[in-house]
Amino acid sequence: MWIKNIRLIDAYTDRIGNVEIQDGKIKTITDQKPLSITDRKIDGRGKILFPGFIDPHVHFRDPGFTHKEDFFTGTRSAIAGGVTTIFDMPNTKPATFTREILEEKRLIARAKAQCHWGLYFGAGIGNIQEIENMKNVPGVKLYLNTTTGNLKMDDKNQWREIFRVGKRVSLHAEGDTFAHAVEIWLEEGAPCPLHLCHASLKSEVDLVRELKKDRALVSKISMEACPHHLLMTHKELEAYGAYCCMKPVLATQEDVEALWKGVEDETIDFFATDHAPHTKTEKENSNQTGIPVYGIPGVETLFPLIFTQWIERGWDLKKFAAMMSQKAVKIFSIKDKKGAIKEGFDADLVIIDPEYHGKIEAKNLHSKCGWSSYEGWDIVGRVEKTIVGGAVVFENENFFERLLAREINFS
Ligand code: NCD
Ligand code: ZN
Ligand code: ZN
Ligand code: ZN
Repeated sequence: MWIKNIRLIDAYTDRIGNVEIQDGKIKTITDQKPLSITDRKIDGRGKILFPGFIDPHVHFRDPGFTHKEDFFTGTRSAIAGGVTTIFDMPNTKPATFTREILEEKRLIARAKAQCHWGLYFGAGIGNIQEIENMKNVPGVKLYLNTTTGNLKMDDKNQWREIFRVGKRVSLHAEGDTFAHAVEIWLEEGAPCPLHLCHASLKSEVDLVRELKKDRALVSKISMEACPHHLLMTHKELEAYGAYCCMKPVLATQEDVEALWKGVEDETIDFFATDHAPHTKTEKENSNQTGIPVYGIPGVETLFPLIFTQWIERGWDLKKFAAMMSQKAVKIFSIKDKKGAIKEGFDADLVIIDPEYHGKIEAKNLHSKCGWSSYEGWDIVGRVEKTIVGGAVVFENENFFERLLAREINFS
C-alpha cells in the first residue's frame, strides 16, 4: 500500500513525500516526483502523516473495573484518537503487584487490544522480589499521594528499596511529596531513571528543570504533562464539579503557564493523558455526596487538544511529533522501531486532516464512560485514518478489527 503526496512529519523531518507500507513496516519513502503506482494507494494531498501517537499513561480498568472501561473499548478510543501505543497503569483489580497477575493481564490485553500496549508493574508492600524479577514493563509505578485505588506507599524506606531495584520508576507524587522523593532518590545515588507522571505544578517543572542541568542526571529524570493540566484550572473544577475532578487536582493559571513554559523549553518530555474513566453515575453520585471520584477520560482527545494549541502558537510540528511519540520511545527504551517515519520502522501511523475545524462532542467519542470534560470545545485537526502494524484500523469513523496489536518490547 502507498500513501501518496502527503506531508510527512516526525521529530526529524517535515516534507512532502510518498510512503510504501508492506508487511507491517515502512518499506520505502520517496520524494514528491510523480509516481506510477498501480498498487492500492491513499491520496494524501492536504493531509499530514505522523508517527502513531504514544500515550504512556492510561487506565483501561481491565481487569476489575470493566464497567468503566475495558481493554477493547479503551484501545478503540485510542485508535480513534490516533494513538497506536498505550501503557496501562497497575491500579486494576487485582493490582499488578505480582508477575502472575501481570501474566493474567497480558492475556486480557492480547485478546482485546486494538493498539500496541505495555503494562506497568505496581509497587506494593512486600513485593520487592516481584519487582526485581519483573520482565518487559515500561516501569514500576509508585504512588506517593492519594488517588483512585489504595496503592499509596508511605514508608520512605520502601521508596529507597524501590529506587534501588526498580529498573525504571514512575511516580504519582505531587508538589512537596515529589521534592521529597527526589531527595531520597538522590541520596541513593539516582540508581534508576525516575519519571514524574502528570505534572501539574510550577514547583515540579522548576525542580525537574534544575535537575536536568546536571549532566549526570539529564538522562535519568523525565516528566509528562496531561492536556487537562495544560488547559484547565481550579475554576473548571469549581464550575463543573466531578467532571473536572482528578488527581493531581487542577491548579492555578500560574501553574498552567509554567507547564507551557516547560513544554516550550523541553523540561516536559512528552504528553500523556492519564485517561481515567469513571461512569456518569459514579460522577453524579460524587457530586451528590461530595466524596471525590478522581479521574477523567482523555486518550481520544489528546491529539485535537494539543494540536489546536500548537497551531494557535505557530510552533514547529516536528516538535509536536517528537512529544507525541519519539520522546516516549527514547525515555522508556522501547526496542521496537517506533516513533519515526523511516524506512524499516513499524508502520504505526496516523493521517490527519489539519484543516478540520470542529467541536469535541462526547457522543462522537468511543470510551465506555460516555462523557468528556471538553464537551463543546473548539478544536482544529481531525484523525482521518489510523494505521497499526501496517493496516488501517480506523478510517472516517469506522473501525476495522485486525489482530495486529502487539505488546511493546522494552530493553
Ligand atoms: C487515576 C485513576 O482513576 O485510576 N485517577 C486520577 O485522578 N488521575 C489514578 C491516577 O493516575 O492518579
Ligand atoms: Zn496518578
Ligand atoms: Zn493515572
Ligand atoms: Zn485553520
